[in-house]
Amino acid sequence: MKIKFYNKTDSTNLEAKRLINSDKIFNDTVLVAKIQTSGIGRLNREWISTKGGLWFTMVFPNQNFNSSVTIFTSIILHKILLYFFPDAPLMIKWPNDILWNRKKLAGILCSNLRNSSIIGIGLNINQKMMPKEIDELATSLYIESNKKTKIKKFLQILLEQFENELQIYLNEGLHFFKSYYKKYDYLYGKSISINIHKNKWNGKAIGISEKGELILRIDNKEKKFLSADKIDILGELVN
Ligand code: BTN
Repeated sequence: MKIKFYNKTDSTNLEAKRLINSDKIFNDTVLVAKIQTSGIGRLNREWISTKGGLWFTMVFPNQNFNSSVTIFTSIILHKILLYFFPDAPLMIKWPNDILWNRKKLAGILCSNLRNSSIIGIGLNINQKMMPKEIDELATSLYIESNKKTKIKKFLQILLEQFENELQIYLNEGLHFFKSYYKKYDYLYGKSISINIHKNKWNGKAIGISEKGELILRIDNKEKKFLSADKIDILGELVN
C-alpha cells in the first residue's frame, strides 16, 4: 500500500473522503497523521488525536466492503497488539473497540464512499497520559506497559498482516476468524443492555454472526444487532 504522511490534518477519514470525492486515489493508500485537529469517532463523536498516537485511514478504491470489515480489522489489530505485547489483557469489544483490561485503547471507523472503502484506525500508543475527559475510559500502550513503541514499525507490521489476511476475509468472510474472535470477545457471556435508536434491549451476549452482528439471548430467543449506540455491562453471568 502507498503511504502518505501528514504532520497535521483535521481527520484522516475526512482527508480520505476529500481525495475520493476529487478522484485523486487510484491505488490502495494509507493516510497517516501525527496529529488530527478534528478526529472523528463513532456516532460523530470527537476523537482526541494528540501526538504519540497512531491515527490513520486505509483507502481501497474499487471496493465496497460490508460492515463486518470492522470486526475483521479489529481482529488483525488485536493480533498485532498481542505480537508486541504478548501477555497483555487485550480484548475485542463489539463493534469496534480494542480494550486493555476495561479501558479503550483503540477504535475503528469504517465506511464506504462512492466506489471506495475507508477504514480509519485510532490507537493510543505513546501518550504519557490521557486527557482528563477520557482518562477513566481510555488508555495508551505506554500508560499500561511503561514501554515506548515505535509507531512506524507498528504500522508497517499491521499493514502487512492486514494485506496478508484481507484475501482470506474477502473469500471466506468472518467464518475463518470466528474462533479467534470468540477467544478475545470482551462481551461474551456478559449480561448487557444495548441502546439502539432510542430502544433498549437487555440480554446475554453470546457471540457474533457471520455478518458481524452481535447476538443477544433475550428470553430464550436470539436477537441480532447490526449496530448499537450504547452498550452497558449489567453483570457477568456464568451460564
Ligand atoms: C471510535 O469511535 O471508536 C472510532 C475511532 C476512530 C478514530 C480514527 S483515528 C484515524 C481516523 N480518522 C478519524 O477522524 N477517525 C479515525
